[in-house]
Amino acid sequence: MALLKYLPQELIRKKRDGKTLTNSEIAFVVQGMTDMSFSDSQLAAFAMAVYLNGLNMDERVSLTLNMMNSGDVLSWHDLDLKGPVVDKHSTGGVGDKVSLMLAPIVAACGGYVPMISGRGLGHTGGTLDKLESIAGYNAMPEYDLFRNTVKEVGCAIIGQTERFAPADQRLYSIRDVTATVESVGMITSSILSKKLASGLDALVMDVKTGNGAFCSSYEMAQDVAKSIATVASNAGVPTRCLITDMNQVLGTTVGNAVEIHECIEFLKNPSQADTRLLKITLDLAAHMLEISGITSDIESGFVKAKEALANGSAAEIFEKMVSALGGPNDLITSPYKYLPATTMKKPIVAKCSGVICSMDVREIGLSMVAIKAGRVKSTDPIDHAVGLTEFVQVGDSVSKGDTLAMAHIRSNSEYDMLHKKLTQSVVIGEVAPESPLTYDILSV
Ligand code: URA
Repeated sequence: MALLKYLPQELIRKKRDGKTLTNSEIAFVVQGMTDMSFSDSQLAAFAMAVYLNGLNMDERVSLTLNMMNSGDVLSWHDLDLKGPVVDKHSTGGVGDKVSLMLAPIVAACGGYVPMISGRGLGHTGGTLDKLESIAGYNAMPEYDLFRNTVKEVGCAIIGQTERFAPADQRLYSIRDVTATVESVGMITSSILSKKLASGLDALVMDVKTGNGAFCSSYEMAQDVAKSIATVASNAGVPTRCLITDMNQVLGTTVGNAVEIHECIEFLKNPSQADTRLLKITLDLAAHMLEISGITSDIESGFVKAKEALANGSAAEIFEKMVSALGGPNDLITSPYKYLPATTMKKPIVAKCSGVICSMDVREIGLSMVAIKAGRVKSTDPIDHAVGLTEFVQVGDSVSKGDTLAMAHIRSNSEYDMLHKKLTQSVVIGEVAPESPLTYDILSV
């Protein structure tokens, strides 16, 4: 029998004692995640040791690259693409449907966007669940169809399969149940191992902060953003991180099919779109275009992205992507034919007059989970039709009885629960605080 290069417990002890692991030692741990030679309890102890003692930048780069190489790493060189391969990743929020518009906008400007997205978990929604509300959309296509769609259409948004970073998938599921998720080093490696496996030339990260974000404090968002920008750049992928606000629902809808409707309206009539949603989408597009070299500066990236939206080319690409991945070829013109809807729709109304001062976004997200627009466990089924539309924004003036949001529900009991939760979560007062959209921009 071959001698083990290291003993798992000795590496766990080393990290437990606050020492630095070498690349070879980290590679051994990652190998143990994939070939099961590390037990769940050993990985749990390893995760706790890392949680308590952290990882320096070299360790983060090593963990990222080793986890990335634990599965397939895509390469686009053989396809002879006419532009850079660039992507965006968001740490997640409520009503965050930006990817759905952003990918086609960037594709319309000459970028190629192979976007591998997740499903919603906890209080945040997932891009994939939203797309799966479109009849026929195949979020798990064969590899060749995914690559061909990126080449022919310019973008494809699909789901994460076990082929990408399987080591992270095992470690993440253990972190999830051992109170070790909130480690900046492991968050960095977890996100980047999956993102970098899609063979990117450049990446833009939207690190959300606020009461609806995974990084609830600004300090944590800054740590995560700095760490991601540094590690990704060290791994050879130029990366920019925008720290953006998640203290209010993004856009006017929350759910799945209802968010696709908002996205279609946005692509068809950008001048009518929610202003925060429009601004953040164009900002992220401008950074993607600049960092990937399509434009020489961010301002011209913004102008180019705005044009692609205004002249309808982004809408056309979105429709082509949906059709290439099994959906209808006329979604933009006939969305109601292909998106499920509830028969019951009732307004949630303001209990007093005033200005919308704040919202508990996490609670709003959790109330969506309660009506099955989101899920608790990754295997839970969801109801694509339920959700909220016409959601008010911080700063809006309302009179008693005005609509705070329209509830798309299945029963009166769902409505009663939502009414109670939302009227508590949306705070009406006298003066709304200034609420910036982007707090900081970091690159290395
Ligand atoms: N999302 C991930 O994919 N990994 C983390 O560790 C945290 C958020």
